[in-house]
Amino acid sequence: MANLIPRVLATLLVVGLWACSTPLPAAPTTAEVAAAGTASFKTDVQPLLAATCAGCHAAGQQGERELLLFKDGAVDYAAASGSISKIVRETTKGDMPQGRPHLTTAQLAVLQAWQAARTPNN
Ligand code: HEC
Repeated sequence: MANLIPRVLATLLVVGLWACSTPLPAAPTTAEVAAAGTASFKTDVQPLLAATCAGCHAAGQQGERELLLFKDGAVDYAAASGSISKIVRETTKGDMPQGRPHLTTAQLAVLQAWQAARTPNN
């Protein structure tokens, strides 16, 4: 019995070390999503628009009247989905995000992939 505790602890240590050394699958990068032609609203489109369109397309902000993209602080699915052709058009032209660096080719490809897939809410 006295032997059991160190053995249990040693087993836990080995299992713990094994678990730590097994890498979790990494989330695909924007470029990988773009290359695969698949884009999810929640993991790709929403964070992309949240990062690049923030500060201008929520209620009371400059840009609100043309496109109310944010609701309760988050990019709204219905708004993004319903305006995807305008969003793709303006970002591809480089007019949006206004006054900020253009979206990268990979970021544009993510928006286009989501549009091509008929804007799934996934
Ligand atoms: C710095 C503020 C700002 C940022 C950031 C910004 N916008 Fe805008 N956006 C505006 C303003 C102001 C207008 C309306 C005036 C205009 O068209 O210039 C507008 C208009 C638009 C329109 C309507 C254009 C039309 O003619 O129908 C779309 C679509 C749009 N923005 C999409 C986006 C998207 C997508 C992003 C993020 C990638 C973004 N905007 C980022 C300020 C901004």
